[in-house]
Amino acid sequence: MSTITSTLWNIEPHTKAKHAILKNYLNAWYPILNRFDKRLNYIDGFAGPGKYSDGEIGSPILVLDLVKAHTRDLKGEFNFIFIEKDKERYEYLISEIKNRTYPDHFNIHIANDEYDKYLTELLNSLDKDGSSLAPTFAFIDPFGFKGIPFKLIKRLLAMPKVEVFITFMIDSINRFLEVENVESTMTELFDSEDIISLIPKWKERRDEIRKFYQGKLSENAKFVRYFLMSDEHSKPIYYLFFATNHPTGHMRMKEAMWKVDSGGSFRFSDETDENQQMLFTDSHDEKLFNIIKSKFIKGKYKVVDLRLFVENDTPYLVKHLKQALKYAEENSFIKVDCIKSNKCKRRGKTFPDEVIIELN
Ligand SMILES: C[S@@+](CC[C@H](N)C(=O)[O-])C[C@H]1O[C@@H](n2cnc3c(N)ncnc32)[C@H](O)[C@@H]1O
Repeated sequence: MSTITSTLWNIEPHTKAKHAILKNYLNAWYPILNRFDKRLNYIDGFAGPGKYSDGEIGSPILVLDLVKAHTRDLKGEFNFIFIEKDKERYEYLISEIKNRTYPDHFNIHIANDEYDKYLTELLNSLDKDGSSLAPTFAFIDPFGFKGIPFKLIKRLLAMPKVEVFITFMIDSINRFLEVENVESTMTELFDSEDIISLIPKWKERRDEIRKFYQGKLSENAKFVRYFLMSDEHSKPIYYLFFATNHPTGHMRMKEAMWKVDSGGSFRFSDETDENQQMLFTDSHDEKLFNIIKSKFIKGKYKVVDLRLFVENDTPYLVKHLKQALKYAEENSFIKVDCIKSNKCKRRGKTFPDEVIIELN
């Protein structure tokens, strides 16, 4: 699977984009969660050495530094669990962390172990004590697709306030699917005995595999989003899947993804040709309005009904809804009442929750 054998390796543009999403999201996650919970966990299941050969920092350092930068507005105990199987990378990570100083209320645990084994033992011991994880963000970032059994993800998502962010190596999975000796790995990855017989029937294989995995996540989490990373030839390498049971987490992750891909296709390519990149960018007003029309039959609705749908069931944000409604009003696709549901007068061209619109 992975051809990287050295302790450190060069960072790729798509890894930088992945780190940007992680950073955008956790910058929001820590302060929001910390209002209610004084103990927060970050688990990096495939931690890496903490550094790239070109000097860029790896995910463990990125997250430690990010939380440290919030020290003034965060109060409580912050646990960081970094799991790294490779001995040299594990030792490198220890020395990288030792070279830095972190506050006393950071509990940093670094394990030279396998993600599956380590976390299963941790969850078993919690089960035994009848306890559960504090709110946790689990980053599962393997090189390939081995050692990430779906059963463990299911266990994580069954706990309140646990979210997962998974690198799903679609390209490797697609290439290796029919090789006989990966059958058990695939069965474990999808928690499905059927996957091997299903695949040959699929025409758009990559897409069907993505949908299957997304479906598995959706059975265990209320909200699932994904972001596609492609190589310099725009060939898909992996999907970043995010699964959470919390609407706020879902919204913040969508914002984090939009920041990295303002075109809104939720994808990033290592492609450097700007014209190629432009292909990803198109107008969303019409697209979103059509999504709304396919969901809501003709009639009158309060904007709040549309907002909840857009926030919870689409990749779009509230600002996109407002733009789409503006576009629809300007083109007479909707009528807008001048009196709002709270009996107050509507201010022209605005769409707060109480505005009533009529879909033609
Ligand atoms: C893609 S790299 C991680 C990069 C890191 N998350 C970052 O963003 O900087 C994957 C790492 O997982 C390690 N690894 C491979 N199999 C593992 C396993 N079963 N459990 C834990 N770590 C593993 C590899 O040695 C490698 O360092």
